[in-house]
This record gives sequence, structure tokens and C-alpha cells, in this order.
Amino acid sequence: MNEDSSSRIVAGLREWIAAAPPGARLPSTRAMVAHYRASPVTVQKALRTLVSQGIVESRPGVGTFTRAIRVARPNNYAWQTAALGSPHRRVPHLSGALRTTPPDAIALHSGYPDRDLLPQRLVRSAFSRAARSDAPVNVPPAAGLPELRAWFAAELGAYAPVGVAPPAASDAIVLPGSQSGLSTAFRALVGAGQPLLMESPSYWGAILAAAQAGVQVVPVPSDTHGPDPDELARAFEQTGARAFYAQPNFANPTGAQWPPDVVDRVLDLVRTHGSFLIEDDWAHDFGITTEPVPVAARDDGGHVVYVRSLTKSVSPAVRVAGIVARGPAHERILTDAQTQSLYVSGMLQVTAFEVVSQPAWRTHLRQLRQQLAARRDLLADAVREHVPSAHIEAVPRGGLNLWVRLPDTTDLPSLVRDCEAAGVVIAAGDEWFPAEPTGPYLRLNYSGPNPGAFPEGVQIIGQMLSRQGLEP
Ligand SMILES: Cc1ncc(COP(=O)(O)O)c(C=O)c1O
Repeated sequence: MNEDSSSRIVAGLREWIAAAPPGARLPSTRAMVAHYRASPVTVQKALRTLVSQGIVESRPGVGTFTRAIRVARPNNYAWQTAALGSPHRRVPHLSGALRTTPPDAIALHSGYPDRDLLPQRLVRSAFSRAARSDAPVNVPPAAGLPELRAWFAAELGAYAPVGVAPPAASDAIVLPGSQSGLSTAFRALVGAGQPLLMESPSYWGAILAAAQAGVQVVPVPSDTHGPDPDELARAFEQTGARAFYAQPNFANPTGAQWPPDVVDRVLDLVRTHGSFLIEDDWAHDFGITTEPVPVAARDDGGHVVYVRSLTKSVSPAVRVAGIVARGPAHERILTDAQTQSLYVSGMLQVTAFEVVSQPAWRTHLRQLRQQLAARRDLLADAVREHVPSAHIEAVPRGGLNLWVRLPDTTDLPSLVRDCEAAGVVIAAGDEWFPAEPTGPYLRLNYSGPNPGAFPEGVQIIGQMLSRQGLEP
């Protein structure tokens, strides 16, 4: 079918409709075929477009009519300014990391892995099996399906050292993604107006969730070795904070995996201060050269609240996460989660469980490790070759991102804009800082589509830097 002639007919008919009264009958298809010298199929396609735009309506067997008029003047929503008043708190905008991009762009900004990295076949057949179960018509239990709760608990319990009681299935709650888990944890454990310690830089979604919950974020400096324990100790003492949000394994964005002495110090600190560590194990399935060992596995005293997502590793369409919390904190979290969403779709829970309980899931994860290693190395080599003035603070042992420091005088917003104009989408590191950024950084994600284009993308970043008069 000829796309051009269909758009030509749409444009022509729009002009005709603009001059016609509402309810006017359009010429017959035969007349339009003759007038536009197009096939009946092309004319029908143009009519369907106008129907979908709400400009005409088709009455089967009668004809096609212009619709009662659409408002030509712009709506005035000013009354809402008075009704809503000032925002109680200003929440930062959603990150550029979630932007959709043109299909031919080189995407180094994305947050969710490309479909080539997903267990596609497993997910599709899990959806089919779930569709044949009772899941499409059942209301699941509020805390989640028992088998999925048991799976989340067992996954964490597998790392429990001798002498530490592993969590029970009843400690786990299923959530609609870990983003909502963070919001729930911040509201339930910290509360509006109260301090929450957070690594800086940290995941922009956590910064957003904290702002929305109205908690006071207190940044604690963190780098590729994790948070500075002395600064953390000082922050606990100065603020009396009840919680510290962190990502001990393959942190987004730095890629840090905490060394054992940092894990020990942080556990000591939360215990001494009667506080929680909210551990976001977002990249549990993305170890490359090391295994992620959750800090929560070493705590049976209820100090570590553990959030584990399946969204990125199973599929962004299976938006399911688990939170493991013990003691009264568990009840608080469950109450908040229920208040927000009542329960998570049973269809998604059954699908998630169907995927992760197959032996093929483990095989997939082993292959994924190799794919991620190859992508990470390709991107890191390209940065070294094409942007030698950039500094990769550490090649991460897991996760999906390279955290790259640029020369101090880089004009980051211009760089992002110039790269985008040249077809390369990158994420400015500023979004990952809960306070002022400590320098110009890029977070380059190696899990996006078309890894073969990574070197070209990085080369373009180098060219755009040199346009700023900087060494690439
Ligand atoms: C560190 C971190 N935590 C949580 C999330 C949100 O995960 P989910 O998709 O399960 O909501 C993300 C997503 O990018 C993330 O990077």
C-alpha cells in the first residue's frame, strides 16, 4: 500500500472537512478513488486514520460523516493553578534515562536491558502457561503468591552464613517493581520530614521516591569502593537518621561492590544506631566477574530491609519485585504496600515464578554474564580509545553501567544536547546526585540495543567534547 498517497488523501480530506459543517456526509469512496486517483484500499486507510483521529465517524451502511466540531481555541486550564496551589514539595523530573529514542539512535542512556539480554523464550512460554492457570481470573493474596514469596526468601537465605537464620517465606512481600518498594520503604520506615541517609551518587529513582515521600535526604559520599564509613558514622550521629538507603552490589551508577570491611562497618553502624539499612539489590542477576552477596543475608536482627527486582532481568513487562523485612517493620511495609496497590497482578506473579523456577533460567543467567562482559569491555575499550581524557573510575564487576568522569571544564548539558543531535543518547551524571554534583560525569549503559554501534557512539562523544575545545 502506498503510504504517501494515503497521507495525501488525509491532508486533502482535512481541508474539505475544515470547510464543511459538522455532520456533513463525506463523498463516497468511489468518488474519492476517482478524485485522488488512488485505490479503494488506500482511500479506506485514509478514512480509518481520520476516524482514529476523531475527525470523522463512519456509520456502517450509511456513510462517513464529519464529527461535531472539535474545539478550535486552546483550553484554558488556569483555574487549576488556583485549585492546586503551590506544590507541597518539589519533586525532580523523571530522569532522561527513561526517554524513548528514535530507532536509529545509539542509545547509551537506557535503564532497562535490550530484549537480546532477556530470557525471551522463557518469558513468552511462562505467559502462556500463566494464561492457562487460574491467574487471569483470581485475586492473589495481598503479600503475594506463597511460592514467589518463598522463592525471594530462599534466594536471599542461600547466602546466609552459618549461625544467621535465613529469612522465611512469610518475611517476603511481592511488590509491583522495586521503584514502588523504595517509596514504600521510605514512607514506612522513615516518614515525611525525617532524615534518610543516601549514598551520593545514587539511583535517581531513589532520589525521586525520597522527594515524593517528603523525607530529608542526607547525602553520604560514596565511590567505587562504596560509602565512606567515617562519613556515614558522622551522618548517623549528626542527624539521628533511622535509615540508610544503599546498593552494596554493583551500585547504579558507580558499579561499586562493597569490600567486606565496608560491609562490616555499615552493619555495625546500623546496629549501634538502632537503624535500618535499606538494601537495593537491583543488579542481583547481573554479576559479571563476581557474585553479588547481599548484606541482608548476614542480618537476622531486622536491621536490613532487602529489595530485589526481577523487572530488569526477567522482563520489563513482568514488573515484579520482592521486599524482605522482619519484625514490626514488615507489618509497616505490608500496610503501606497494600494501601498503595492492594496486590500485584497474579498473572505477573505466576509468570515471574514460572520463569525463575525453570532450570533454563540458570542457563540464561550464565550466558547473560558473558554477554554483559563482552558489552562492558567493548564500551570501556571504546572510551579509552576515543575519549582518553575521560576517566573510568573502575570497570564494574557487575551491573549495567560505566561511570565516567569527564574533564572538569566540560559543559555537560551542551555535550548531551550535541551528542543527541548527532544521534547518540547519553545520560548526564548530574541526575544521580542527591545534592550538587561533584564533577561532570556520564553514566554509560552497556545493556542497550545494537552493541556493535557502541564504538561509533563513543567516538561521537569524543568529537563533541573536542568541539568544546577539550581533548577528547
Ligand atoms: C538501583 C535501582 N533500584 C531500583 C530500580 C527500579 O527497578 P524496578 O524496575 O523494579 O522498579 C532501578 C531501575 O533502574 C535501579 O536502577
